[in-house]
Amino acid sequence: MPYTLSQLATDIRSTLEANPGPAGREKIRAHVSRALKDEAFVAAHLKDRPAGGNPREVLYEDDTLGFCICGHVYEPNAVGNPHDHGTSWAICGQATGITEMTDWKVVEKGDGDKPTLVVPERVYDLKPGDAHLYDIGFIHSPRRMMPSMLIRVEGANLDHVKRSRIKAFQP
Ligand SMILES: [Fe+2]
Repeated sequence: MPYTLSQLATDIRSTLEANPGPAGREKIRAHVSRALKDEAFVAAHLKDRPAGGNPREVLYEDDTLGFCICGHVYEPNAVGNPHDHGTSWAICGQATGITEMTDWKVVEKGDGDKPTLVVPERVYDLKPGDAHLYDIGFIHSPRRMMPSMLIRVEGANLDHVKRSRIKAFQP
């Protein structure tokens, strides 16, 4: 049976209703993995975007619980700065290509206008089929050197979530 967007949304909704905490997010990670391994799902929802266009498309947003399912399609050389997802969590699911992800550790907590300072802690690849949970406050930065397609589930639509001020520590 192919896995569909509406089935994924239903699975996420029932998981969050039963368990809105970190254990529920781990279960959602497994649902995202299932979608990533479903060729028809990937072909239906992740398509090349016009060059220079917005890599992000919100495929589904839940009116009641606020979570959303997005398709991200990146051109080569998409490099992000260290960031968190504010008050939200996100699950990053790699469908095609590779994301080289760096996790960062806080060395000095920010305050007001002062940014939080971070140093790199771990670098690893997200490969096709991998889904990784970035829980609330977790700081990371992606580097994508080849065309890459992702399915991303966010606890709240990150288009509307304020991010923390974060800067790489320069000794
Ligand atoms: Fe992120």
